Amino acid sequence: MDNLEQLAIAARQALAAAQDITALEELRVQYLGKKGNFTELLKGLGQLPPEQRPAAGAEINKVKELLQAEITARRETLEGAAVTARLAAETIDVTLPGRGQQLGGLHPINQTIERISSFFESIGFDTVEGPEIETDYYNFEALNIPAHHPARAMHDTFYVSNNQVLRTHTSPVQVRVMENREPPLKIICPGRVYRCDSDLTHSPMFHQVEGLLISEHATFAELRGVIQEFLQVFFERDSEVRFRPSYFPFTEPSAEVDIQCVICGGSGCRVCKQTGWLEVLGCGMVHPRVLELSKIDGERFRGFAFGFGVERLAMLRYGVNDLRLFFENDLRFLAQFH
Ligand code: DAH
Repeated sequence: MDNLEQLAIAARQALAAAQDITALEELRVQYLGKKGNFTELLKGLGQLPPEQRPAAGAEINKVKELLQAEITARRETLEGAAVTARLAAETIDVTLPGRGQQLGGLHPINQTIERISSFFESIGFDTVEGPEIETDYYNFEALNIPAHHPARAMHDTFYVSNNQVLRTHTSPVQVRVMENREPPLKIICPGRVYRCDSDLTHSPMFHQVEGLLISEHATFAELRGVIQEFLQVFFERDSEVRFRPSYFPFTEPSAEVDIQCVICGGSGCRVCKQTGWLEVLGCGMVHPRVLELSKIDGERFRGFAFGFGVERLAMLRYGVNDLRLFFENDLRFLAQFH
């Protein structure tokens, strides 16, 4: 009985000290296991006189069951604490403000191209594309710019090989369309073009939109109407538009188009160099030689074409004064166009 009392005291102390489930399990094995202290004690009963055995056995079992109950209770407490600790560690505070999603947007140049395409599509033009690596034939020859023609000097061409270039304008797509489709034709072609030129207002890669209309009755007056309407819709104002006689090898007659300065309204400023006018576009009636090279019957069909730079129009429309902003991709700049 002394042994039982000491054993019970030792067991309770160990129980109080057990801080986790593993320690508790070791303790249970040590005291209540098959080879544990209580089993040893029960085995010792045989040494007692027979009349004392039942009472002593009952007493040992009583203490053993008590201890078993305490271990179970303690286990439940420790398990509960473990769950609570885990819940606390894994808690998501749903009241914290969210991180937010950054929504991207179209680049202002793409937005401008979409704006231009949607105007021309609304008046029946198809949007088409062509290759950025062009042959000398499509980029120059077929547009009535033969080798040694002085107009080639204006283009600062990147040569890929003897007869391949990075296209210097989107005009070659005119030729590809005339070769591949039957007139009447009404297309625009937006895309990248390349020139070996780089400063404040020139970038080696920039964008142009080319337009071509071929029909039996195309006239300069119709060209003028389309361009005027386009510029008014694009800039959302009734600016004056003027056509100045000019020269392009692939059109005859040719014109350059100016609009009243969108910055100063025509009174003269730094952007229009005090002239009140901004040059925005080149155009003209398709040269008979160009029609002929592309196998279009020049007796039956005539056409007009036009071409302009997208960056220039975007700069004027949005009041951007540095071309490089379009290519640096600084989000602080781009986000203003979302
Ligand atoms: N291709 C010319 C350039 O890059 C722009 C141009 C002018 C296109 C007159 C045309 C046109 O179709 O008729 O400067």
